[in-house]
This record gives sequence, C-alpha cells and structure tokens, in this order.
Amino acid sequence: MLLKASLENINTACRLLCAGKLVALPTETVYGLAADAFNAAAVQRIFTVKRRPSQDPLIVHIADYTQINKVALLDDARSSARLEKLKVLWPGPLSIILKRNPLLPASVSSGLDTVALRVPAHPVMRQVLQISGLALACPSANPFSYVSPTCAQHVQDQLGDKIEMVLDGGECQIGIESSVLSIANSQVQLLRPGAVSLEHIEEVLGEKVQAAQNVKLEANTQLKPMTAPGMLDKHYAPRTALAFRSTAQDAQLPARVGLIAFAPVLSEKELAKYECIRVLSENASLEEIAHKLFAAIRDLDQMGLDLILVDSCPEQGLGLAIMDRLRRACCRV
Ligand code: TXA
Ligand code: MG
Repeated sequence: MLLKASLENINTACRLLCAGKLVALPTETVYGLAADAFNAAAVQRIFTVKRRPSQDPLIVHIADYTQINKVALLDDARSSARLEKLKVLWPGPLSIILKRNPLLPASVSSGLDTVALRVPAHPVMRQVLQISGLALACPSANPFSYVSPTCAQHVQDQLGDKIEMVLDGGECQIGIESSVLSIANSQVQLLRPGAVSLEHIEEVLGEKVQAAQNVKLEANTQLKPMTAPGMLDKHYAPRTALAFRSTAQDAQLPARVGLIAFAPVLSEKELAKYECIRVLSENASLEEIAHKLFAAIRDLDQMGLDLILVDSCPEQGLGLAIMDRLRRACCRV
C-alpha cells in the first residue's frame, strides 16, 4: 500500500510498526525498510523481504540522543568521548557503531556485540520515531545488492507486495546512504563513506579517520558476521552492465549504450554514441549528482540497454561516497 505521508497515514504506520509489521519510509539519505528493532520476528522479516544475508547487520534509528541507552552501552570512555563530539552531526546521515545493549535482539546486529545507530533528520521518519516511541531497525528498502531507493515508487516497484505500507514523503534530499563510522578502536574507521564526508568527520573529531578496506563475501562465510559488511565488493548493482566512461574503449562499445553524465555533454560526436543520456548536473555539483544518481541508474536499467556508462568525480567530500557506490555497482563477479 503506497500512501502519502499525511499525519493520518503516519499514525497508521506507527500502529503497524508497533504491531510488528514492516513499513518503508523516507529518510534524508534513501528510503528505509523499518521494523521495531526489539521485535525479533519483525527484524527477521526484514532479512527475508530484502533477501539479505543474515550476517549483514542493520542500522537502528532512534528519535534523539537521549534514546541511546535503550539500544547501546556507553561504558567505554574512548567511544563516549568521541560520541560526545560526533553528536553535533545528529540528526543527520551518520551511523555510529557502538556496543550493543544485550536487550536488543542479537539478530539486528547479525550476532555482533556492536550496533550501528543513527538519528535521522527527515521530518517523516522523525515523526514516526517520536509518535511510535520505537527504535527502528531500518536498512535501505531495496532487494539485497540492488541500488538503494530514493523515492517511494522505487520501493513500491520492488517490495510493495511484500510489506504492509510504503509512506511517500517525496524524493530523498541527499540520495546516498549514511556514513558508517566505527569509534571503539584506537583508530577511528570509516566503514562506509557516505553523506557526511570523511573530511568533515575528521574536523568534528579532531583526529584522523581511516578508510576501511573492502571485504569479499565468500560462500563459506555464511554464518560468520562480517565486521564491515557494507564493504562488499558487489553492491548497489543494476542488472545492466555498468562501466566508467573513462575506461570504455569506443571500438568495443556494444550497440545500445546509455550514459549517465555528471555535467552537460557538449560534443556532437559524443552525443551520437549514446541511445540515451541523463545529465545529472549543469556544473558537476556533487550534491546534485548524489541526489539524482540512483534514480538515473534505475531508470536506465529499465531500458534494456547493453551497457550503461557513467562519469567519475574527484574522491573528495561527497565524491568519495559517490565513487564508492559506483565502483561497487560496476563490479562484476
Ligand atoms: O542512510 C542509511 O544508512 C540508510 C537509511 C535507510 O538510514 N540505511 C542503510 O542501511 O543504508 P543498510 O542496511 O542498507 O546499510 C547499513 C550498513 C551496512 O553496510 C551494514 O553492514 C553496516 O551498515 N552495519 C550495520 N551494523 C553494523 C555493525 N554493527 N558493524 C559494522 N557495520 C554495520
Ligand atoms: Mg543497503
């Protein structure tokens, strides 16, 4: 059921969530698939509906900082001191890994003793958290390894018949997922680059942050939780082959090629090569590119093309997250 995010429908969504049902809803980054984080059966259904491996942990969303103790344990001085600084970034697109409160079902975190926590900024998500009083387990509302949804229709198309409600709050403003940060070890690690830039996190923390390495999903790791599961090589992938425009050889291009350009494509010769072109920004603005990127990939993925080519950008600020997602989407294993 796809419904506008009116107050009445938000109230219905809260009732459904309190009853252990699944509701997809907007956050400022991407649409999420929410369930009561303390209801193990509801959490299990998230994994089933998304076809997500059970060893890939979920992010828990809370209404505000004061709710943190429900879900996490703040018993280590190093994490607490860092969290104290990082909380200026909440509400916002930053997920922080803390020690899991044992009262939270272990399945939310795939058996890890940690939990990823975020206070989201989107007004609809905030209302749902406040009215329901719940902590919500809420991964991106896409089938596992597909591109995240940035509007309600994306969710409806892929998961609509499997869940109780999709709340439509319009397009997600940012369009790329939250940054995932691990703060318990001596070195702070960025497990997933995201909407808050590495540079900004370092500035707020006043210390260096390390970017994590990729982790490969191997068949024999089925039951072993991954420390940085979001770093799977192949993720965010459309069905159509995707490649960087910079690496594509003209002579080897197949018949029907689409292009996702970050700025206007000027030359006639260039224009003639593509069956369709999506220009994401007039001036290669990273904010605009992030906002429109996933929708453009979905769009072109539905056109039956042989290949989608995409531009690259410098890996600074939001550019790091954009290139991270594109590399994973380009990966063919
Ligand atoms: O912007 C976002 O973060 C969106 C919106 C809906 O909030 N959510 C999202 O969730 O992208 P998901 O499940 O698609 O990605 C969560 C990432 C995964 O890479 C997961 O492996 C990682 O966070 N993660 C969650 N809990 C973790 C933990 N305890 N330790 C390490 N990584 C964790
Ligand atoms: Mg996801």
